[in-house]
Amino acid sequence: MELLKKYQFDKNCDRIGPDIPFTHWKLYFKARMIKICKKKFFEFAEGAEIRPGAYIVGCSKIFLGKNVIIRPGSRLFAESSSHDVSITIEDNVMLGSLVSIYVNNHRYDRPNTEIIEQGHYPTEPVLIKSGSWIGANCVILPGVTIGKNSIIGAGSVVTQSIPDGVVAFGNPARIVQKI
Ligand SMILES: CC(C)(COP(=O)(O)OP(=O)(O)OC[C@H]1O[C@@H](n2cnc3c(N)ncnc32)[C@H](O)[C@@H]1OP(=O)(O)O)[C@@H](O)C(=O)NCCC(=O)NCCS
Repeated sequence: MELLKKYQFDKNCDRIGPDIPFTHWKLYFKARMIKICKKKFFEFAEGAEIRPGAYIVGCSKIFLGKNVIIRPGSRLFAESSSHDVSITIEDNVMLGSLVSIYVNNHRYDRPNTEIIEQGHYPTEPVLIKSGSWIGANCVILPGVTIGKNSIIGAGSVVTQSIPDGVVAFGNPARIVQKI
């Protein structure tokens, strides 16, 4: 009974990840990976891939452009009640492994209420423009846009939008070079 319930949950939930075993195994086989991702994502363009070990919450709110590969250990949290698309990754963006992208913050403006009880601030979508390169282990926070053909160095925490054609890194990520 528990197994059947888990199977039904895995099949229908808006997620892909190692904790969703009845769909996660499909990521090991290209044709099955494409089929499940085309079903679950808002857009899953030609050449896009989700690699085993990636963790995606809110698949239906994610636009993945051509040739975008989400590598092992990456985490995309896109749940949103206010936006049809909350994470957009345009064509030919390269992402290292262990990249994390978030679009929501918990509310914390009522000091006498535990944060878990306060709900969320409105979703702030993330946009990563075409041709950029996001290094391994980056964290991209709500509301950030990364410009066309820009580079974000490994291990950066990106708190503010980054324009087109620059190299930025650090915590918080700062522009260090125009390309
Ligand atoms: C951003 C990056 C492309 C810059 O490469 P580069 O131009 O060769 O830079 P250098 O190695 O010459 O470093 C220049 C300076 O920036 C610093 N630096 C470079 N990358 C940094 C990073 N990610 N975070 C913090 N500082 C960094 C270096 O320490 C050096 O500082 P210094 O001048 O004080 O010694 C590269 O460092 C990087 O982060 N690549 C990502 C690799 C990756 O994630 N690959 C995953 C597979 S897709």
